[in-house]
Amino acid sequence: MPLTFLHLLFLSSCIFLNGGVRGQTSYANDFVNPDYVVARDFGNNTRAAQLTIVKWAKVLAQRGPWSVMDKAVLPPSGDKHDYMSWAPYWWPDCSAVGNTTELPQEEVWKQCEYKARDGQFNPDGRLVNDVGNFQLLSDAVLYNAITWSFNNQPTSNFYSKLLVPKFIKAWFLDTETRMNPNLNYGQMQRGPTGQLGSHTGILDLKGLTKITSAILMLRNGKSEDWDAATDAQMIAWAKEYITWLETAEIAVEEGIADNNHGTFYYNQLAALKILVSDFTGAKAVTDTYFNKQYLYQIEANGEQVSLRPLEAARTRPYHYRAYNLAAMITNARLAEYADPSSPMWNKTTTAGATIKTALDFALSVSPAASQEASYAAELYPSIAAVAATYGDADGKYLTFLKNAQPAFAEDPYFFWNQPWAVDLDISGLVGSTSAIDDDKITNAGTSTAGTAGAVSANSAVASKSGLTLGMIAVSALCFIALA
Ligand SMILES: *[C@@H]1O[C@H](CO)[C@@H](O)[C@H](O)[C@H]1NC(C)=O
Ligand SMILES: *[C@@H]1O[C@H](CO)[C@@H](O)[C@H](O)[C@H]1NC(C)=O
Ligand SMILES: *[C@@H]1O[C@H](CO)[C@@H](O)[C@H](O)[C@H]1NC(C)=O
Repeated sequence: MPLTFLHLLFLSSCIFLNGGVRGQTSYANDFVNPDYVVARDFGNNTRAAQLTIVKWAKVLAQRGPWSVMDKAVLPPSGDKHDYMSWAPYWWPDCSAVGNTTELPQEEVWKQCEYKARDGQFNPDGRLVNDVGNFQLLSDAVLYNAITWSFNNQPTSNFYSKLLVPKFIKAWFLDTETRMNPNLNYGQMQRGPTGQLGSHTGILDLKGLTKITSAILMLRNGKSEDWDAATDAQMIAWAKEYITWLETAEIAVEEGIADNNHGTFYYNQLAALKILVSDFTGAKAVTDTYFNKQYLYQIEANGEQVSLRPLEAARTRPYHYRAYNLAAMITNARLAEYADPSSPMWNKTTTAGATIKTALDFALSVSPAASQEASYAAELYPSIAAVAATYGDADGKYLTFLKNAQPAFAEDPYFFWNQPWAVDLDISGLVGSTSAIDDDKITNAGTSTAGTAGAVSANSAVASKSGLTLGMIAVSALCFIALA
């Protein structure tokens, strides 16, 4: 595949975020069990991970709030409250519409025909950055809600009161800034026959799973920041959006997709049913996934079917393997939360494989084999999840992580993959002795000191190398946008 300059720039930004600098990143998806967080029985060896969570929470908090009103372009409906994103790989060809001189942008978007260039991002997509903003929102809300739970930990003086409800109200609820509960213009096509969202755009809101986790932490933990009125409004919003997800033509289409799009669709829908306390409905949703798409997604050796040459002559097999795995794990977590009596972890595909088989296969493939060394870290949260769920009797997962990411005990996923993490002997590993140091937290985001360089460190390097703020925003998207 030919790489454009911008594409290379984009990829190098991804490497930067996920490579040597222990910067902030965005996990593809996860459902953090709110019961564990609310119980506040955190083992001593999760302290380094707690410190990272607090730092990420703070850096993200400084960037919000966000809303759909932030975009400069009006959706075809004329209502800015409608969420919008543009199909990422499509480029204009204006030759048929008398493009003798340069056409103004708005005319290009409406009149020119758009053509796909697989894997090549059209950078003008970030003029409408609802997708990037929503990702930041979901991470900000998740990490700040977890940080709220550290109120008997030395990190407690960091927590910024009312921040989570403020961000949630700005995006979903406040009259001036709320998002209408639909994705009619997600990953929409431009051009004369476009101007409508496509089913792939449903993926843009997969972060609702993280947001649900966060809301449950505050609600079940009886946080005084999360009042009954806000809870009721959020439930009302979620119910309207659930109806849209279950009935809109493009949403239904996404729900039957065989690949990661289908898997992630169930993440959102099941999480939202849990948010509105419809546990039976949530279980029905995950049951549908595990009795439909899932059955055909993993082969006997653990390779994922969508990674067969046909489709994943797609450009990034390692990424897609990790990406769909994260969504499968999230569905299994949601199923277990909705109905602990019938977990899906042992559910086998028609070929006899489980989620664990899929992880074991993914671990056997070197990311370098497909020039994806920079994506190696995408698998780490899933390794921890599988070790925590199925056990790690022979220490295989621990050994893998130790070699691949010696400081993994500092990673946020290490905090919530229990009881594996708590029982683990991490003495001698990076992060095992980290004390919670207030200064480090206070300075997070304004200095490069400490282990997690986070966004400010990235910005410093980025400006030195001449990258724009826009490219930084793009780089933050590298995990989600590669779908
Ligand atoms: C955790 O650390 C504290 C303070 O160092 C110590 O008092 C406590 O015994 C430790 N708990 C465990 C279970 O190791
Ligand atoms: C429009 O025409 C100009 C001048 O010929 C050309 O450089 C440009 O690439 C064209 N734009 C598109 C989107 O076709
Ligand atoms: C899988 O099934 C076995 C046998 O019933 C059980 O011991 C184990 O806990 C199950 N594993 C998970 C992850 O549910």
